Amino acid sequence: PNASVALDRGAVVAPVNRRLFGSFVEHLGRCVYDGIYEPGHPTADEDGFRRDVVDLVRELGSSTIRYPGGNFVSGYKWEDGIGPREDRPVRRDLAWHSLESNQVGVDEFARWCALTGSELMMAVNLGTRGIAEALDLLEYTNHPSGTALSDLRIANGATEPYDIRMWCLGNEMDGPWQLGHMNAEDYGKLAARTASAMKMVDKDLELVVCGSSGSGMPTFGEWERVVLEHSYENVDFVSCHAYYQERKGDLGSYLASSLDMQYFIETVVATADHVKHKLKSKKTINLSFDEWNIWYLDEHQASDEVNDEWRFAPRQLEDVYSVADAVVLGNLLITLLKNSDRVTSASLAQLVNVIAPIMTEPGGDAWRQTTFFPFSVTSRLAEGVVVRPSISAGTYETEVYGTASLLDSVATFDEESGRSAVFLVNRSQTESLTVTVDARSFDAARITEAVSLHDDDVYAKNTHEDQNRVGLTANESAALADGVLTVTLPPVSWTAVALT
Ligand code: AHR
Repeated sequence: PNASVALDRGAVVAPVNRRLFGSFVEHLGRCVYDGIYEPGHPTADEDGFRRDVVDLVRELGSSTIRYPGGNFVSGYKWEDGIGPREDRPVRRDLAWHSLESNQVGVDEFARWCALTGSELMMAVNLGTRGIAEALDLLEYTNHPSGTALSDLRIANGATEPYDIRMWCLGNEMDGPWQLGHMNAEDYGKLAARTASAMKMVDKDLELVVCGSSGSGMPTFGEWERVVLEHSYENVDFVSCHAYYQERKGDLGSYLASSLDMQYFIETVVATADHVKHKLKSKKTINLSFDEWNIWYLDEHQASDEVNDEWRFAPRQLEDVYSVADAVVLGNLLITLLKNSDRVTSASLAQLVNVIAPIMTEPGGDAWRQTTFFPFSVTSRLAEGVVVRPSISAGTYETEVYGTASLLDSVATFDEESGRSAVFLVNRSQTESLTVTVDARSFDAARITEAVSLHDDDVYAKNTHEDQNRVGLTANESAALADGVLTVTLPPVSWTAVALT
C-alpha cells in the first residue's frame, strides 16, 4: 500500500524543546548502583562513575534528568546522601524493598549531570516529608553561600550553586502504592503550600505538580482538576506518567499505543484549561510527561522479583526490549513532538538497567537496547520547529483503540541551517508502506541520512550475550526528487530521514 504525508513549514506546532528528550534516574534496582556508578569498574572515574555509561548517555542525547525518584523519593532523606561517604547511613527503601547505601547523593548526581551534559530535574519528598525539608534542599542546592546549608554544600566541595530550575512536588501521590499516598484535596493543598514557599525563595523556579500516574487510574481527570484548583497559580507543569506493553499477544493494539498517549495529553490539557478558565487565570499550565516508556508491568506485578530479603541494588525491572518495543517507543516520541505546544518537558523512564535503553553488567560491558535507537536518532536530528504533518494512509482495526492509522509521522525544520527531518512509523504487521512525503516547502536538495529500525523477527532483542543483534539499517529506498521524498517502510518499523 501507499501513503502520503504533506509538510508545510508554516504548520508549526512549537519550537523543538530539548526538554522533550529528558530521562530519569531513580535509586531503584541497578539504575544508580552498578548502573551509572560502579567504583571498581575498569572505566570508573575518581567519583566511581562508569565512563562507558557516560558515553552512551551522551550518545542517547538525553537532556533533563529527573532524580532521585520515582516512588523512591517518597521515603528519601536527602541529607543522608551528602558529606563524607563513610559516614552516610544505610537505609531501607520501602518503595522497592531494598537497601540504600547513600553512596550517591545530590552532590555526586549533580557532578554526573555535568559529565553527561544534562540538566538536573529534582524531586522533593512529599510522601513522608514536607515544606521544611523541601526548602532545606532548595537552600542546599541553589543558595550561593553564607547560609548554613549553602555553606555545607561548599564544605562538601561544590563552591557554585547547582541552580536547579525544575522541581517535582512529590511523585505519583494519586497511587495507593505511594508512601504517604493522599487524596487529591490533601495533596493539592500540600503541593500548593510547598510551591508557594519555594517560590518565596525564587519566583522563577519551574514546579511540577503530580498529575495521574496513568490514564487508567480511577481518579484520572478528576485528580488533575482538584489538584490544579488548589495549586494552579503556584505551579507551572502538571505531570503525566504512562507505560505501555503488549498484552495477550495483541500486537496490533500495542503498535497503536500512542493513541492512548494522545488521549491522555488531550484530556489533561482540557482539564488544565478548564481550571484556568474557572479560576480566570492568565497563565497556562503545560504538561511534564515525566515518566513514559515501555514496561512489562503486568509481568512485574505477577513476579516475586521483590521478595522479603533486604538487598543492595537487586536486579529489578530489567526489561529486555524487542524491535516492536522500539517501534512503539519511536511512535510515542513522535506523539510527544506532535504535542510539543503543550508537552514542554518529558522524561523517558528510566535510563540505565531499570526499564532502560542502556544496560550494564557489573565489571563488564554496557550496551544499547533496541529502544536506544529511535530515541538517540530523534534527539540528534530534531531541531528548529516541529511541523504538523497532514497524513493520508490506510487504517486497521485494533481491539483496544478501534480504528488506527497504519502510518504515523512528524517532521522538524530548522530555518537557519536549512536542515529538516521526517520521522515515520509503519504499524502494519504484514505490508510495507511506500510513503510519498511532499517536503517541497523545506527547499531540501538532498538526503543526508535515512535509517530504519526493523527486523523480520519483531521480537528480536539485544542481550548481554548478543549485544548487537538489533540496530539501525540504512534505508536504501529513500529518494528525493524536486522536494518530494519517497521512502518504503518495512512492516513494524521506525524510520528517520534527514534532509538538507
Ligand atoms: O519508573 C518506575 C516507577 O514507575 C516509578 O518509581 C514510579 O513513579 C512509577 O510508578
